[in-house]
Amino acid sequence: MRPDTPAPVRLEDYRPTDFAIDTVSLDIRLAPKATQVRARLAIRRRDTAAKGAPLVLDGDELDLVSLALDGRPLAADAYTAAPDRLEIRALPDGPFVLEIETRLDPDANTKLMGLYRSSGTYCTQCEAEGFRRITYFLDRPDCLSVYTTRIEARESDAPVLLGNGNPVEAGRIEGTDRHYAVWHDPHPKPAYLFAMVAGDLARVSNRFTTADGRDVALNIYVEHGNEGACDWAMDSLKRSMRWDEEVFGRIYDLEVFNIVAVSDFNMGAMENKGLNIFNDKYVLASPDTATDQDYAGIEAVIAHEYFHNWTGNRITCRDWFQLCLKEGLTVFRDQEFSSDMRSRPVKRIADVRLLKSHQFPEDAGPLAHPVRPRLYHEINNFYTATVYEKGAEVVRMLKALLGPEDFRAGMDLFFERHDGEATTVEAFLACFQEASGRDLAQFSLWYEQAGTPTLTVDSKYEPEARRFTMTVRQSVPPTPKQSAKKPMTIPLKAALIGPDGTEMTGLSVAGAEMTGDTLHIRNPSHMIVFSDVPARPVPSLLREFSAPVHLKSDLSDADLLFLAARDTDPFNRWQALQSVALSALIKATQAAAGQRPITVDPELVDAIGASIADDSLDPAFRALCLQLPGETDLAREIGKDVDPEAICQARRQVRATIADRLAETMLATYTAMTSPGPFSPDAAASGRRALRNVLLEYLSHGTGGQDGTLARAHFDAADNMTDRAAALGVLVHARLPGHEEALAAFADRHGHTPLALDKWFTIQATAPFGDALDTVKRLTTHAGFSMGNPNRVRALIGAFATGNQSQFNRADGAGFDYLAEVVLSLDKTNPQVAARLASAFRSWRSLEPERQARAEAALRHVAAMAELSPDVRDIVDRCLQ
Ligand code: ARG
Ligand code: ZN
Repeated sequence: MRPDTPAPVRLEDYRPTDFAIDTVSLDIRLAPKATQVRARLAIRRRDTAAKGAPLVLDGDELDLVSLALDGRPLAADAYTAAPDRLEIRALPDGPFVLEIETRLDPDANTKLMGLYRSSGTYCTQCEAEGFRRITYFLDRPDCLSVYTTRIEARESDAPVLLGNGNPVEAGRIEGTDRHYAVWHDPHPKPAYLFAMVAGDLARVSNRFTTADGRDVALNIYVEHGNEGACDWAMDSLKRSMRWDEEVFGRIYDLEVFNIVAVSDFNMGAMENKGLNIFNDKYVLASPDTATDQDYAGIEAVIAHEYFHNWTGNRITCRDWFQLCLKEGLTVFRDQEFSSDMRSRPVKRIADVRLLKSHQFPEDAGPLAHPVRPRLYHEINNFYTATVYEKGAEVVRMLKALLGPEDFRAGMDLFFERHDGEATTVEAFLACFQEASGRDLAQFSLWYEQAGTPTLTVDSKYEPEARRFTMTVRQSVPPTPKQSAKKPMTIPLKAALIGPDGTEMTGLSVAGAEMTGDTLHIRNPSHMIVFSDVPARPVPSLLREFSAPVHLKSDLSDADLLFLAARDTDPFNRWQALQSVALSALIKATQAAAGQRPITVDPELVDAIGASIADDSLDPAFRALCLQLPGETDLAREIGKDVDPEAICQARRQVRATIADRLAETMLATYTAMTSPGPFSPDAAASGRRALRNVLLEYLSHGTGGQDGTLARAHFDAADNMTDRAAALGVLVHARLPGHEEALAAFADRHGHTPLALDKWFTIQATAPFGDALDTVKRLTTHAGFSMGNPNRVRALIGAFATGNQSQFNRADGAGFDYLAEVVLSLDKTNPQVAARLASAFRSWRSLEPERQARAEAALRHVAAMAELSPDVRDIVDRCLQ
């Protein structure tokens, strides 16, 4: 580690603040280059604080204008002010009022943290530590205050003025061109939930009546011209509000709920109290510009941010180590919501695919960390798949182990006991322990131990004894700073499927506790014995993916294909087929690397064929069955000496082979899935499109599709973005005749719609050909691209680094060198986005030696720079450790 690395923050060092800030009154006078912020803080020393201890407030690049205590300016020797810190000495013992004036330049704020401008609109992002870029404060989640915000701006620049809570007052300032609005939020909150917006925005309004009969005004604010693209977001919001009442008993608590969509945003969205601010990608949708996946994403993110009102806002985190307390829980809640709105198995498969392709690689590499970390250098780097997605899995496991009634009772207790508090994972678990009477000490290891556990299952059937025995072993791999691991509590949902395809019931089981269909695995090894088993069963294991583990079972391909056809759990039907496909792809990769011919077993082809043609199955589910495991899934499974080019080649070849063998069935189903009517984003219609589009992809990579006729016709006939983007992707990724014309037509049509053009950038950045890197470089000079906009950077460069494994990991290292250069240049303006890009290096150690050396050289080149942000420094240091 470099000598100048600042000290990390450690969980064990947590202690409460010496001071409480009970109320915050802000007066914000907006101007592009010189915004004046006056903060009036009512502060008192806590009983626990040492007498005479100074008050130390956080700042970040702040410019202090004036400082007063109880109405009198502070003497110069009573305080020390620096851009990142304000220390005040000689404070009274009793309560006092501190007035701080700072001056900001929102136009110059390219980090998009604190107060900044997006297309002229003033907006804020304060999570995790952005409030300290607005005024000096105890900028930590356990400092809860009641906020009143007065916002003032030129009326013509910013006719709309929004703050947290409820509107109280508004008016013109006589004799000037300025106006103001005052907002009051009665719910005490941490500074990271503060927000304000001011701009010339259009408004789309609606109303919601709560279960207790209160009327809530709902507004979505967007740039003028986008009013027509808010219907889906509004509908999703209303459904979220109703669902949280019905499923969790949670009712909204203010008179208004405002959402603002901005085009420059570092993350997805932010749950500021009563004033959610969104990346416009998660608000705007029209059939012509948004895909079905975008619609699903909007529904999920709108719900996620709304659900934070209780899990995050009413009950918040004591410190940032507890981030999963709000994020994992809220992701779990939004996943449940989407499952109820759509097909539960389809949603579960989509979530597991995401978990395996993003979180599993994170957990297997140098950036692995526990769901609740104990140490960080830069908190912004912990908004990870582990905290969010694995965090959600932990809550889901809790529900599986406790059962739905005790789980709900635990949630109710949590809401009742901790409302209005900043609390911890321990306090959360204590509620479930009390509600269920179960000891959750071992379960809590899921928050502490990083790494994906492996469950190994070996089974045998003894016909004479009518006995089926499964040996279940668990192991948790070593991860950075955690070499020895303890056994965990793992819910293993299981059933035995008889030869006729029905579930065996009424069996007696010994060797592990079983509640419902869930085995409670706790020991390093269990011998689980089922008695009175009439015939050799095939065990259906880890149903619904009941735990985030690697499952290694001794099931043969024949057993798995039996499950793929017959399992009564749709998730496991999908999983079984994926497992067979995964081993086929690994064999194909070995063949590709050794320059041997690639073959595909006919049994796998038949199983895929059967799922295409089975009209009793939901088309969305069939589409998922057809999707082969991705390149990162393969890389993760192979684990070491990875050659991404061999993986890519093998996958393409296997897909082409399957397409050739199943061309007839595929074409028939493709035709049958043609939309019968006008576009609708609902689950049924989108499922048909998904199946038709995945079939298009197969057919176009097969021999029959090589002339491009089918894909071009698909592209030309598309009356919605889902079909148009799918066809363009196929034309470009299979390099079919007409792909250039299609790219030009797409750019013509969508050149002025940035979110739609992002798809055009991504499709080109992820084309698996040797010129992809040059294309990416060229597109950075395209008029529609900007390094200052995070969505553009992610759509082009992020997509290349994470979605084009063979080209980013080019053998000559040019992909690594390019990413290193982008990270270094972007770090100067937006460290958060730069650090995200840098984490694309996280699997470098599993590459084959030559690529490994080149990736390491690129990482060392970045690490050698003297002036790195803490964000990028943290990622490269951990990658190299
Ligand atoms: N709390 C937001 C969410 O719901 C994420 C905000 C993260 N922002 C950041 N700068 N790290 O997911
Ligand atoms: Zn969240």
